[in-house]
Amino acid sequence: MRTLFISGCNNMVYKITNTKSGSSFESNDDETVLDAGLRQSIVFPYSCRGGTCGTCKAKLINGEIIYNTDTAALSDAEKESGTILLCQAKPQSDITIDATELAASANIEIKILPCRE
Ligand code: FES
Repeated sequence: MRTLFISGCNNMVYKITNTKSGSSFESNDDETVLDAGLRQSIVFPYSCRGGTCGTCKAKLINGEIIYNTDTAALSDAEKESGTILLCQAKPQSDITIDATELAASANIEIKILPCRE
């Protein structure tokens, strides 16, 4: 297991396997695990999508990821133990994760709503 904190773009498709649910799906180039899951109706718990709340924490069992942004929600101990943020982690190889999935996710419509400042 190796986690790198650099930007990258390599036009690859990687397989993501979740040992907790038994599901597997693919990530496109430069796509986070969370976004890849949502695109394929696999929903993980999330909130900020910015790396700060920690709602999307999961375990990286094996494989490599990169982060393009800050991972403020992770302590040094969590990083050392293989905890990752699904909203920020971009696979750089086939990866295996241990992550909670939300049930009946296929029927959840993703909406982006306007708000006032
Ligand atoms: S959703 Fe908040 S850190 Fe990932």
